[in-house]
Amino acid sequence: MKAFIEGLPKAELHLHIEGTFEPELMFDIAARNGIQLPYASVEALRKAYDFSELQDFLDIYYQGMNVLLTEQDYFDLTWAYLNKVNADKVRHVEIFFDPQGHTSRGVKFATVIHGIHRALQRAQIEFDLSSKVIMCFLRHLDEADAINTLEEAAEFKHLIAGVGLDSSERGNPPKKFTRVFELARQQGYHIVAHAGEEGPPDYINQALDILKVERIDHGNTAMRDTSLVERLVAEQIPLTVCPLSNLKLCVVENLNQHPLREMLDRGLCATINSDDPAYFGGYMNDNFFAVEAALSLGKQRLAKLARNSFEAAFIGETRKQALLAELDTYLASA
Ligand code: HPA
Ligand code: ZN
Repeated sequence: MKAFIEGLPKAELHLHIEGTFEPELMFDIAARNGIQLPYASVEALRKAYDFSELQDFLDIYYQGMNVLLTEQDYFDLTWAYLNKVNADKVRHVEIFFDPQGHTSRGVKFATVIHGIHRALQRAQIEFDLSSKVIMCFLRHLDEADAINTLEEAAEFKHLIAGVGLDSSERGNPPKKFTRVFELARQQGYHIVAHAGEEGPPDYINQALDILKVERIDHGNTAMRDTSLVERLVAEQIPLTVCPLSNLKLCVVENLNQHPLREMLDRGLCATINSDDPAYFGGYMNDNFFAVEAALSLGKQRLAKLARNSFEAAFIGETRKQALLAELDTYLASA
């Protein structure tokens, strides 16, 4: 099964580029930028990755991204991630970034987006690995800040496929961002939002009804609400599920209790993703290995997860059909 997963063509649709910041690279970049990290060593930093809920992680995640300053920093971060997932047979990625986590520190929007984009272009050429970029608004900040960010992004619209919503979910419902998502929709962005990671099923309904999302990021708590599950199945709204993230942030107690298998068996369009792999203990294939070990999904469900990832991607029909054909060729021989 390990070899089957390793060779399986797949797409990653829920990945925060700032969450791919490995401690070794963080120390290197901090040193070249003359910044002192509040940890004595790579090992001491890794030890701090012990979370009991989303907020514990976010505090460390925002601290980590503070060392990113130059276009080269953003390039190096993104390029390191792309090399990892290319080895995992990831054929298409949709990368989140948090512009407010950078512009609030005085880093220019252009610096961030150009560094990320240069790495994505190189991966397209060297690995035939396609990509899209999605900018997320930080939901713990107010809507006016998100609107300013949307305005700042206008100049780079050709580099950004969609907008999303992340950060502290509880107490920050989707409806807080009604206007900014309406503006983003009018401007032609794809729309996604984190919902139902820690927040109630109602936040998923709000994301669908008010923000008009095309995919739900996470969506775990939908499983508590039968009529919501039926709706998500009927509308085939993709869920970008993140098993190792859910384990590390105590959304599930252990992976045996993860709802992924049930999601698939109830007809939900679930996909597997790594979220913040440097913090949560694994990249794409590590997530596949972990759920296969815990839930015995079998080849058919694993193949469905890969198929869902291509179906749910924000890519043109030509590329989508090519990737689905690549998957079919692989399955015929595996
Ligand atoms: N949830 C919410 N916000 C985030 C996450 C997450 O898993 N990762 C990075 N920002
Ligand atoms: Zn996320």
